[in-house]
Amino acid sequence: MSIKENYTITVLGCGVMGTAVVSAILNAEFSPYPSKIICCTSREESALNLKKKLNHEIIEVSYGSEANSKAAKKADIVILACKPYMYETVLSQAPINNGSLLISLLAGVTTKELQKYSVNVAKVMTNTPAQYGCGTAMVSFSDPEAEEKYGDLVMKLINPVGLAMKIPEKNMDAATALVGSGPAFCLLMMESLIDGGVRMGIPFAVAKDAAAKVMEGTAKMVLETGDHPAALKSKVCTPGGTTIGGLLKLEDAGVRGSIARAVEEAANISASFAKK
Ligand SMILES: NC(=O)c1ccc[n+]([C@@H]2O[C@H](COP(=O)([O-])OP(=O)(O)OC[C@H]3O[C@@H](n4cnc5c(N)ncnc54)[C@H](OP(=O)(O)O)[C@@H]3O)[C@@H](O)[C@H]2O)c1
Repeated sequence: MSIKENYTITVLGCGVMGTAVVSAILNAEFSPYPSKIICCTSREESALNLKKKLNHEIIEVSYGSEANSKAAKKADIVILACKPYMYETVLSQAPINNGSLLISLLAGVTTKELQKYSVNVAKVMTNTPAQYGCGTAMVSFSDPEAEEKYGDLVMKLINPVGLAMKIPEKNMDAATALVGSGPAFCLLMMESLIDGGVRMGIPFAVAKDAAAKVMEGTAKMVLETGDHPAALKSKVCTPGGTTIGGLLKLEDAGVRGSIARAVEEAANISASFAKK
């Protein structure tokens, strides 16, 4: 790992995702730990809100392009978390120090495009549950040298959002679909469970909490046992029972194929953005 002990992270564009990553780092313990995190926004109002939200001794907050540039000069690591369309402007106003690591949270921008601004680039695709420490993050590196130098540190910095996994960059469009769009797909399934409960007489508030907990508990079972979902599903199908009856209705409607195709469609759309 090539990072000094007292290193500084600068977050260029500390909005929803940037704040989620910084909050997760603040709640985690690992070594080497950053001695300073400078969070940059464009407006004073968001900087003030951020100051209240991330109230911690290692946090500094700043706003505006001049402050971005000063913060980038101090950075050993830059986390880029602005909107994808603005990254060229932000990085040209705040050049990254030679040899510093750039960690990008941007959807659809490749490490090759970002290597114009830094030799060492890590690309992270995470999702909104990261705000609650329950995010998923897929990580890839610009090249084997960047991974060799910074791989361990990047995983230590990103894993606190929930769960971080390394993947080759060629899988990033699929990751954008599965991880980035996945929460919306799960919410649609959750809504359907709620609708079913309400249809059969359960009050909405109760059905909502029950459906959310069912999804959380099911996910935990898969993560803790490591079993294939089909094996776990089979265990809850009593012969002639309610579950197998419901499952066959879902299979008749092609729900399994539709959800898999939704991931395929989202991945293809993500890939088409990169071609533009
Ligand atoms: N949200 C998601 O579900 C999700 C999922 C996966 C990946 N991502 C990726 O995460 C990135 C950030 O998305 P987000 O939802 O966190 O966006 P966001 O909440 O709108 O945050 C953008 C941040 O950039 C700041 N900013 C704008 N112009 C700036 C400038 N010139 N210099 C410094 N900061 C500037 C904004 O500050 P002001 O508020 O002061 O303007 C804001 O803090 C995107 O690239 C997106 O592709 C998002």
